[in-house]
Amino acid sequence: MPLDIIVGAQWGDEGKGRMVDLFASGAAVVARWGGGDNAGHTVTVGDTVFKLHLIPSGIIHPHTIGVMGNGMVINPETLLAEMAKLEELGVPVPPERLRISLNAHLITPAHRALDAAQEQQRAGGKIGTTLRGIGPAYVDKAARRGLRVGDMLDEEDLADKVKAHVENTNLQLTALYNAEPLDPDEVAAQFAEYARQLKPYIADTSVYLHQVLADGKRVLGEGAQGTLLDLDHGTYPYVTSSHPIAPAALVGLGLGFNAVGEVVGVTKVFQTRVGEGGFPTEQDGAVAERLRGTGENPWDEFGTTTGRPRRVGWLDLVLLRYAVRVNGLTRLALTKLDILSGLKPLKICVAYEGGGRTHRELPLGLRGLEDFKPVYQELPGWDEDVRAVRTWADLPQAARDYIHLIEEQSRVAVGWVSVGPERDQLVARG
Ligand code: IMP
Repeated sequence: MPLDIIVGAQWGDEGKGRMVDLFASGAAVVARWGGGDNAGHTVTVGDTVFKLHLIPSGIIHPHTIGVMGNGMVINPETLLAEMAKLEELGVPVPPERLRISLNAHLITPAHRALDAAQEQQRAGGKIGTTLRGIGPAYVDKAARRGLRVGDMLDEEDLADKVKAHVENTNLQLTALYNAEPLDPDEVAAQFAEYARQLKPYIADTSVYLHQVLADGKRVLGEGAQGTLLDLDHGTYPYVTSSHPIAPAALVGLGLGFNAVGEVVGVTKVFQTRVGEGGFPTEQDGAVAERLRGTGENPWDEFGTTTGRPRRVGWLDLVLLRYAVRVNGLTRLALTKLDILSGLKPLKICVAYEGGGRTHRELPLGLRGLEDFKPVYQELPGWDEDVRAVRTWADLPQAARDYIHLIEEQSRVAVGWVSVGPERDQLVARG
């Protein structure tokens, strides 16, 4: 049995959590390969809304085991808080249910302080990071001075490494950013306690995943963030510091090419973005208010991690085709179709205009994205409330036309369409 991969095809927040929840019902293991608690995955089951940042969302299914792969950056404080919250909601996470790669990197309060200080003073303006210390932790990883989860296995060694890390970061905080230093002994004491609690979860997850696949069981790779936030292939520099795209699942989990099965790209039927950077189809006014929602519902367009209102706009098929290419998507899952009911007419961006020409593909990757003008195709839209629809045939013809246009332009079949936040508010196409 293969590794199926679910990735965000946009700028994150596509509704991957609920699609992972759906696919996890048939998987033995759900594994995250990158990012950290900058992610926010929301899954609604009955009256319970689960908001997960680090632990794979598949954990909500009692039969699945979660894996946090080597490509992740993990803040133990957030992780333990998330475990406690899950337990409160009736999903305890004992070591039998979660394995953390010994090669994943650790995020400390010093990384968070550095993230905040750097955002304050970034030349050329803010990136709008989630302030979770993600960038600084990946910098330490690349600079080969990072703290790894495996360092928590040796108490004395851990204390020395944490203190050296805080002292090094203090130099940057004080000398470069005029920010307050942290107390190395205090952070070391915190990490000694985290290590005590997390030791039973630490494992060689690459070996474990190989074994699970060799036993013929299904593994689901759970993407975090989205394609357009990828460090190499996203809208640099307005990106995260990891690789949310599907090929990175192999590196971030310690698996080889022969493992891969389906690669499902999740996209909303409109576009959203948190933080700064180009967004050609961005809308304001009445259309934006309709797409965003008021913030009363947990699925309205306000950041799960930051609470910030998301920027919203029409679906951009130039960017979706780009996501199909860099991920090797085999199928699409569409989310939030219900939000478009009553919004008429609907627009979809099928090309860009720039430099006196029309472009179906961007001429220089995502460079200069903000300078292109979208070319829209208009569709009539529909009035019907689709939240109770469960079959393809029951969707309004205008909604099916909208989806057909997405398939025709992206050349990838749509397998699933969500029509509401609940688990069962889904049209599976068979
Ligand atoms: P960082 O990952 O906190 O460094 O933030 C870098 C950029 O990625 C910012 O624009 C964030 O808003 C964005 N970002 C990071 N994680 C997510 C996510 O899970 N969803 C949406 N945007 C994200």
